[in-house]
Amino acid sequence: EKAGYKHFMLKEIFEQPRSIADTISGNMSWLKGDGKLEGVDPKSFDRIQIIACGTSYHAGLIGKFYIENLTRIQVEVDYASEYRYRNPIVNEKTLVIAITQSGETADTLAAMKLAKEKGAKTLAICNVIGSTITREADTTIYTYAGPEISVASTKAFTTQLTALFILALYLGKERKTLSSEKLEAYFKLLMEVPSKMEEFLNTERKEEIVKKIALEFYKASDALYLGRYVNYPIALEGALKLKEISYIHAEGYPAGEMKHGPIALIDETMPVIVVATKSKVYEKVLSNVEEVKARKGRVVSIVNKGDKAVKQLSEFSIEVPEVNEFLSPIINVVPLQLFAYYIADFLGYDVDQPRNLAKSVTVE
Ligand code: M6R
Repeated sequence: EKAGYKHFMLKEIFEQPRSIADTISGNMSWLKGDGKLEGVDPKSFDRIQIIACGTSYHAGLIGKFYIENLTRIQVEVDYASEYRYRNPIVNEKTLVIAITQSGETADTLAAMKLAKEKGAKTLAICNVIGSTITREADTTIYTYAGPEISVASTKAFTTQLTALFILALYLGKERKTLSSEKLEAYFKLLMEVPSKMEEFLNTERKEEIVKKIALEFYKASDALYLGRYVNYPIALEGALKLKEISYIHAEGYPAGEMKHGPIALIDETMPVIVVATKSKVYEKVLSNVEEVKARKGRVVSIVNKGDKAVKQLSEFSIEVPEVNEFLSPIINVVPLQLFAYYIADFLGYDVDQPRNLAKSVTVE
């Protein structure tokens, strides 16, 4: 059932191009033409709150960029476990989006229930048909990742990003903040993602490069992950993957925040993984890499083909295909998933069943 892969996690990493393509085609009917997303009137709210846990929360952070940029609707993102106890301001004019792979996460269910009681409209983004959240939400957008067995979430995450991007396009269309030309252009860029990811995954040397870097760092006791803008949440996600399967302490930070404290951690032993693909903040990230370098940090960078400036400052670089900057997190997370995977495997850990963790957290 692992289809020749050593672990489900690796299989699921490699399934991502297919899962993303399926998530696009599975949601096409309501995005395209006169299609409608049943259950929620796209003009009936003036703000959005996203609630989720763990990896799904990181997807939510990126979803905020998508929705705010394409629709200009204000979006807040909360951990479900925080939302439910913070007395949130929520009413009939709020759309609450719950993101959950399993549809059974206790905190996410409770947070959505609370929002519903206060009159909010509710939308679930979920991977499991018929799960509890899908029965309780006003409407559900499915991700078509297929069953995710590994405790560490991979394909659920990239399909959640796909679903969030489609939702942002839909809201932009319905609320007329996005012209049909723009929508078409974005949709075309989204359609290119599976083949770009395939291109990355199926270049034999790529796996070798990531493995080689993992071999260099698997004995580290800490790691820092940096990113900015849409790729800041990818730094958080990369760090979470490393923590949960390899038990190495890791932190994700917005690269621009380094000088406000965490830079004190950097010395010649500290691995610093930087997401530095092309975007409007590329130059900013470059100067952050220079700051790390000046303190002798060991820089591993995720860059686009043809990059020179960041590469020059890096001990190791992993090249990924270039895509639109909004969509770049979907590609950029893949090398970080592989990096965490190989480190955990080198350490001999049970990659699919890390200690102390369950696939779905059905208790508070
Ligand atoms: O099923 P959910 O998406 O609600 O699960 C949320 C988190 O428990 C989950 O993403 C967790 O953080 C993963 N193990 C991360 O890889």
